Amino acid sequence: MPFTCEQQMQAVGSEQLCKSETIKLRNKHIGQACQLFYRSDPLKIVRGQGQYMFDEEGTRYLDCINNVAHVGHCHPEVVRAGALQMATISTNNRFLHDELVQCAQTLTAKMPASLSVCFFVNSGSEANDLALRLARNYTKRRDVITLDHAYHGHLQSVMEISPYKFNQPGGEPKPDYVHVAPSPDSYAGQFTDKLYPGADLGALYAQPIAEICERQQAKGQDVAAFIAESLQSCGGQILPPPGYFKAAYDAVRAAGGVCIADEVQVGFGRVGTHYWAFETQDVVPDIVCVAKPMGNGHPVGAVVTTPEIAQAFHATGVAYFNTYGGNPVSCAIANAVMRVIEEEGLQENARRLGDYLLRQCNELKYEFDCIGDVRGAGLFVGIELVSDREARTPDTNGAHWVVNRMKQLHHVLVSSDGPNDNVIKLKPPMCFNEANADEFLLAFRECLACLCRDREVEAASVAVAPVMGMTNGVIATAAETLANKTKMFERQDRLIKSV
Ligand SMILES: Cc1ncc(COP(=O)(O)O)c(C=O)c1O
Repeated sequence: MPFTCEQQMQAVGSEQLCKSETIKLRNKHIGQACQLFYRSDPLKIVRGQGQYMFDEEGTRYLDCINNVAHVGHCHPEVVRAGALQMATISTNNRFLHDELVQCAQTLTAKMPASLSVCFFVNSGSEANDLALRLARNYTKRRDVITLDHAYHGHLQSVMEISPYKFNQPGGEPKPDYVHVAPSPDSYAGQFTDKLYPGADLGALYAQPIAEICERQQAKGQDVAAFIAESLQSCGGQILPPPGYFKAAYDAVRAAGGVCIADEVQVGFGRVGTHYWAFETQDVVPDIVCVAKPMGNGHPVGAVVTTPEIAQAFHATGVAYFNTYGGNPVSCAIANAVMRVIEEEGLQENARRLGDYLLRQCNELKYEFDCIGDVRGAGLFVGIELVSDREARTPDTNGAHWVVNRMKQLHHVLVSSDGPNDNVIKLKPPMCFNEANADEFLLAFRECLACLCRDREVEAASVAVAPVMGMTNGVIATAAETLANKTKMFERQDRLIKSV
């Protein structure tokens, strides 16, 4: 351990502000647009270890959502590598350094042979921004195809290709050189297994991409790139149907465009069967973007591409320089992360635990009809909550209620996402174990039982409500239930903390 237990406890003990003061200062000095989890009762996390996070009172939370702390919060090997390099030299990549070239060597060794050249960046947004520049420079075109509900980062260039953001009521309008293809969601999307039973959904979802290419060609405004997450995360934990990426890539390449895989969330073994999620569809992208898990919490990312695309970028004569991208500290950390994934067999762990979680969640489906769909690959799991299973009606409020109850009562952190914000997302640190999965399942089961019981109560109250004012009656009942439950959580929470 680079730091002793006493040193860590001292650091936590030196926490200088009480929670209400932290909240007050945050409200005053941090932009209100900044997202805050559990806004009405935010968490103050002061320490992390493995798959757990601890608040200022020492309460332990099981972290089921942090795909950044990939090999576990504060993994000692990663901390040691970073601290040692920090104490040795941190400079920029205009000097030779072994950590940089070794990081590139390890990263490219994990990729298909054609992807052999790296550019280092500091975040997923920077990676996708650079990928667009590479693609546009290589093709000498501007237009980009993106997927509905996709999120590719917060920079201007990538906000423009993120329907997840620009389709919000206050979002900036989509530029006309951006084209949106449907999200390949076979449960709730445009082409579903219910609407098109037995159909080749991969081909159906790839068709609109081919049509965009054709339309743009006819206009003389060809497509530069198709960018997609290999499994859509913000889009609702979507696993594209088989054959989708092959057909989509074929269409884009036939039109002279390049294919960018955004692996910012789903790379580095998370899907269990493969190191990269694009491999699950047996395709080879032209450009791959990686970040988040690569630094286990330290800001580092990379763009990996072919020598041809890299050479075309070089041929512009405009040098690429990024002050922090590829600095020795970031690279030492990324090298340690990739080493730990290997040494601790975390990809295989993700496969095994993911299978277990999927099996168990599918079992819950028989018991609770508020579960519409369970899907996932490795430790990337989505559970779609519905208010009517037959109609697949999204249950957004139910999902929010579950997320809050999981945190408040069970101290298990999950989140919700997707076009209707009704998909419970699981993407825990890769050291997640069977006991953690059981802890999640027990808590989740309790929440679903309450949710379903409430629904029955509501349905019964609808049945006995007088026709006049029935709607008001139902809303009041649901609101009252929610208010009572919240009070109950608060009481229980105080009780637990006072023990
Ligand atoms: C798929 C995907 N791409 C890119 C990004 C942007 O990464 P960053 O926040 O590191 O800039 C995110 C962030 O959530 C993401 O989920």
